[in-house]
Amino acid sequence: MSDLLAGKKGIIFGALNADSIAWKVAEAAHTEGATFTLTNAPIALRMGELNALAEKTGSKVIPADATNVDELTTLFEQSMEELGGKLDFVLHSIGMSVNVRKGKHYTELNYDWLQKGWDVSAVSFHKVLQTAWKMDAMNEWGSILALTYMAAQRTFPDYNDMADNKAYLESIARSFGYHFGAKKKVRVNTISQSPTMTTAGSGVKGFDGFIKYAEDMSPLGNATAEDCANYCITLFSDLTKKVTMQNLFHDGGFSNMGVSDLVMKQFMGE
Ligand SMILES: NC(=O)c1ccc[n+]([C@@H]2O[C@H](COP(=O)([O-])OP(=O)(O)OC[C@H]3O[C@@H](n4cnc5c(N)ncnc54)[C@H](O)[C@@H]3O)[C@@H](O)[C@H]2O)c1
Repeated sequence: MSDLLAGKKGIIFGALNADSIAWKVAEAAHTEGATFTLTNAPIALRMGELNALAEKTGSKVIPADATNVDELTTLFEQSMEELGGKLDFVLHSIGMSVNVRKGKHYTELNYDWLQKGWDVSAVSFHKVLQTAWKMDAMNEWGSILALTYMAAQRTFPDYNDMADNKAYLESIARSFGYHFGAKKKVRVNTISQSPTMTTAGSGVKGFDGFIKYAEDMSPLGNATAEDCANYCITLFSDLTKKVTMQNLFHDGGFSNMGVSDLVMKQFMGE
């Protein structure tokens, strides 16, 4: 490894267990020389799994519900204190839909659940950005990333109201990315990741079949959580200073495919 993040400080949201994309990002960031705090919703910390990652990466765990601005403010305060200054990177790796969890069909959504999922999955990104903005918590040329999925652009019926949440999330990255770029020289992007076998991913109905379909459609195959972590590292590094307000597909080529030989074969009876 090449110390791409040597001296950089950050906050990583959303490592739940060793399958989590954020978990792999934390491991890679540590390998590349970064220091950071780890955070998750208090309820997700109950199992205590995050302590192993904290120990491995020498990081402090600071609980925060990402929908709660007071908790986010405390998180940023404590992180800057712990790390000894302003931050260079933030990863928002958070998603949850109550309608998906409870198997509610998109044509029968419960709107209280919709609002909860929208707050957790999309508005929380605005809350993170606004907290960092108001506290002037980011160093110049810092980088803020959120994870998203292509259902924001194309229809994947079982992704349900998460598709709308992701569209909103990606829009926030563009809108806030303008202000962060113009005033603070900080970049804001979303990474649109392949389907990945994690707790959140496997909550989507028919996920096994879907992950196989995406694998067969993608010329490079699905991007794994480790691949995603490596991509995040490049976007936190100084090698991508002028990339901002983008939704960056990280999916082995899936997003530009019409059909592949592998998928065609299944319809040709070969
Ligand atoms: N797994 C996939 O197929 C896939 C594909 C594309 C994008 N993504 C996105 O990647 C991100 C990470 O998901 P993952 O696949 O690693 O699954 P995961 O279940 O490991 O991570 C989701 C995280 O969100 C956290 N979270 C939920 N509510 C929260 C709250 N109120 N405050 C703070 N944290 C909260 C959970 O505790 C968990 O750590 C999500 O945005 C997800 O939509 C996942």
